[in-house]
Amino acid sequence: VRRRRCVVTGAGSGIGAAVARSFREDGEEVLGVDLAGADIDADLAGQSGREAAVAEIATRYDAVDVVVACAGSARPVPETVSVNFFGVVRLLEGLLPRLWRAERPRVVVITSVAAVHRALRSVVEACLTGDEHAAVTEARRAVDTGKAAGIYTSSKQALARWVRRSAPTSQWAGNGVTLNAVGPGVVLTPMIEDQWRDPVGRKALTEQVPMPLTGEPVDVGQIVRAVRFLAAPDNEAITGQCLYVDAGADATLRTDSCW
Ligand SMILES: NC(=O)c1ccc[n+]([C@@H]2O[C@H](COP(=O)([O-])OP(=O)(O)OC[C@H]3O[C@@H](n4cnc5c(N)ncnc54)[C@H](O)[C@@H]3O)[C@@H](O)[C@H]2O)c1
Repeated sequence: VRRRRCVVTGAGSGIGAAVARSFREDGEEVLGVDLAGADIDADLAGQSGREAAVAEIATRYDAVDVVVACAGSARPVPETVSVNFFGVVRLLEGLLPRLWRAERPRVVVITSVAAVHRALRSVVEACLTGDEHAAVTEARRAVDTGKAAGIYTSSKQALARWVRRSAPTSQWAGNGVTLNAVGPGVVLTPMIEDQWRDPVGRKALTEQVPMPLTGEPVDVGQIVRAVRFLAAPDNEAITGQCLYVDAGADATLRTDSCW
């Protein structure tokens, strides 16, 4: 069997590093993308970095079998919208023609249980209209009005909704490309370790992300497991889903308001 060619963003740390390692251990080919020190160094916050990454991937892989988009930032700044939403969506759009050439193309994006929290509607809507300038402007307005904490939530909610909207369309489903999201609860990676060590930060996190199944952070291996399940070549029917790997947080927060 031919080795699958996988692109993993955010491969330099945390969840992305664990996903890249897992694919490599199973003999798949992986191109890691990150700010520095990866196979391909690119800043996905800007369109030129995204285009450079797509061009570099295209020189190495004629067809792309798997993309797992893990790169993300939790900083409460406007740029977070550019990384978490447009850095994923524009990169995937750029890679679509390569995905179409694969036999069983699979895409998984990492959202967050934060996607189910209350978001800033103006930021989410600007993202979903595809207007990066407007989205960043709205995020800047959020900073100016003391609502910066909503930027991360909004970027992830927009991404989850984009997955739902896009997956069934002709470009994606019509070309046999599955598109799903994995939404982690609290995972102890460099993104969150400092907050978890601080008692005040930990208390806030456990209130925002209640995880009744374990009461503990989710092991990164559990996130990898879900990614691998959705990215598997024999996943022939699951697309457009957001799978929360969160020890019960989403079900606690949204109860039966969605099903
Ligand atoms: N750790 C958690 O508790 C948690 C929970 C829910 C969702 N997530 C999401 O999981 C994903 C992975 O996060 P993590 O926990 O592994 O964090 P992490 O900080 O360990 O890894 C994030 C990676 O993304 C890269 N990155 C950031 N900005 C970038 C940019 N502009 N261009 C290219 N690469 C960039 C970083 O360099 C880093 O290697 C993120 O999307 C994050 O939002 C994490």
